[in-house]
Amino acid sequence: MTDDITPEQVEREQQLTQTVLRSFDQAADPRLREILQSLTAHLHAFIRDTRLTEEEWNAGIAFLTDVGHTTTDWRQEFVLLSDVLGASMQVIGVNNAAYGDATEATVFGPFFVDDAPVIDHGGDMAFGAAGEPCWVSGSVTDISGRPLPGARIEVWEADDEGLYDVQYDDGRTAARAHLFADEAGQYRFWGLTPTPYPIPDDGPVGRMLRAVGRSPMRASHLHFMVTAPGYRRLVTHIFVRGDEIGWKDSVFGVKESLIKDFLRHDSGDVTPDGRDVGQRGWSEVRFDIVMAPSDPHHVR
Ligand code: BEZ
Ligand code: FE
Repeated sequence: MTDDITPEQVEREQQLTQTVLRSFDQAADPRLREILQSLTAHLHAFIRDTRLTEEEWNAGIAFLTDVGHTTTDWRQEFVLLSDVLGASMQVIGVNNAAYGDATEATVFGPFFVDDAPVIDHGGDMAFGAAGEPCWVSGSVTDISGRPLPGARIEVWEADDEGLYDVQYDDGRTAARAHLFADEAGQYRFWGLTPTPYPIPDDGPVGRMLRAVGRSPMRASHLHFMVTAPGYRRLVTHIFVRGDEIGWKDSVFGVKESLIKDFLRHDSGDVTPDGRDVGQRGWSEVRFDIVMAPSDPHHVR
């Protein structure tokens, strides 16, 4: 597309980029200078590479304006845009460098709520949310296998209608809780077998996905956020092996290491804690969580 641009035109375009880059040279904060200069360089390269038309620029501004208007105190359409562009996962990757066998991180999503109820070991985080019961258990350790008793584990997920509690307008709290790893660094609780659901797609981001023939569906998952003093906060999910959406996840959150086997049981099978799940089947999954130190240079 750039074949028929004269050297004089190229020179003019490069001149403008250089002038804008230099306009940041005096910024007192060197990090701010670096970020704005890099952003300018990439933005100008994008405009020049695509030979962006004024009509397209206007459409882009209108789209971003709509993203802004859709954003409220409880709906963050800019983060959703970042998610479907894979930008959120790139930021997560850059900031959660691989460290031994530390569990990989993935997207946070918009449905975490502070102050979710606490549950005991073996408690039920569903709080009445609809879905198939799932026994979730595992350990929290450092990369050498040392248990981390007291690690705080937050869990949240959608019900089998594909909705989080906060998406209902009756103020319910369900399918979310927190618990603490026991003295041996073990944890166990009842949740729901995850099912696929769409990201909120009734706004500009949804329109963009439809325009390019992409699905809004997320692979079935259960969210975790794990914290322990001296360790890097871990925000992650576990995904269901064999899930129908799988790698086509709309926000690129799936990682091989986070895909787990959810073992399916008939209603007649005895549950690990003897709970009677009635006529329903149930499932179980194990997730051993490995925490990276917050300062990888400081040997604990
Ligand atoms: C979620 O998993 O809850 C989610 C993540 C990114 C965008 C929308 C939803
Ligand atoms: Fe989710």
